[in-house]
Amino acid sequence: MDTEIIEIDILNIDQNKIKKAAEIIINGGLVAFPTETVYGIGANALDYHAVQEIYKAKGRPSDNPLIVHIASNEDVYKYAVNVSRKAILLMEAFWPGPLTMIFDKSDRISAFITGGLDTVALRLPSNEIARRIIEESKLPIAAPSANRSGRPSPTRAKHVIEDLAGRVEMIIDGGKATIGLESTVIDMTSKIPTILRPGSITLEMIQAVIGETMMDPAFAMVEAKVTPKSPGMKYKHYAPKGHLTIVEGEEKQAIDWINERVGQLESEGHLVAVIATDEDANQYRCKTVTIIGSRVNHAEIAGNLFKVLRLMDENHLEYIFSRGFSEEDIGKATMNRLLKAAGNQRVSLG
Ligand code: TXA
Ligand code: MG
Repeated sequence: MDTEIIEIDILNIDQNKIKKAAEIIINGGLVAFPTETVYGIGANALDYHAVQEIYKAKGRPSDNPLIVHIASNEDVYKYAVNVSRKAILLMEAFWPGPLTMIFDKSDRISAFITGGLDTVALRLPSNEIARRIIEESKLPIAAPSANRSGRPSPTRAKHVIEDLAGRVEMIIDGGKATIGLESTVIDMTSKIPTILRPGSITLEMIQAVIGETMMDPAFAMVEAKVTPKSPGMKYKHYAPKGHLTIVEGEEKQAIDWINERVGQLESEGHLVAVIATDEDANQYRCKTVTIIGSRVNHAEIAGNLFKVLRLMDENHLEYIFSRGFSEEDIGKATMNRLLKAAGNQRVSLG
């Protein structure tokens, strides 16, 4: 398949290009487009065949449910039932934006979107290009992250082109996905609203609006054998081809530990990298030191994480070391993705 790649300036959106993208979706095709979190690969959520094409293009198991993207708060009532007062408060506080809510599904939503569940995930993105495409198509748009299954989510059009060129009708280059980590997913059907996937809308931000809220125990206790409610959590997540180790502990101790391991591995002829920050980069003795951002700028680290992980594979790194990052605000989501990428390989010193 030929993939058309078009650029859209988010500050000066060309409506003709939006129309072209919407037409592809109306006709059952696939369009990859930017959102504020990561790039998505979109299709008509009501069209069985179009949705099957998403799974094929991603190489993703079809029992993993998809998020349905909508263009207005009112659309919630078309696709969901039993919408609670708390859910309305969250919509008012955070939509449009990087929050996905799980509701009981209405009859318009078929099991092929929900992986057979009776619930549906709905999200109203704030990215203007994404929103205009949904509006123009007048359809709910199913859109998982626009990566091949097993790769990090794409935060730049370049990543989407690497993974999906030849597999979708159109890729829209709308610049960098500003947040860089996938949306917060919260289950609004449980007695106590439960966060299934952490993101830039944090537990604390949600609690400030609706009170009692919890983290999915399957997430909170990474080690424990608890079955996750979000089917996506059970799949092996992106792991770089190299062996990634997260090192936690006091700064000097962690850096010394990493330098010792690096020295040993490099002397054996291995390709080794350290993921570092502006603050500690010059303290590593390693041939490849990749800076992810400033340790105190949690949003910057989140925004660069997937790009840095892709870079490790591009450069065929065999061993990768990173100190842990702050778990404050979006840092919790960053560490969730980083630990998944490391297959929970974590060294705690001291
Ligand atoms: O930021 C995002 O949410 C991006 C952009 C493109 O919008 N999309 C995204 O989609 O990350 P995806 O498919 O990669 O992740 C969707 C997550 C999966 O973990 C899936 O299992 C979960 O949401 N999910 C979807 N429907 C669900 C449901 N009914 N119940 C529980 N979890 C659900
Ligand atoms: Mg994904």
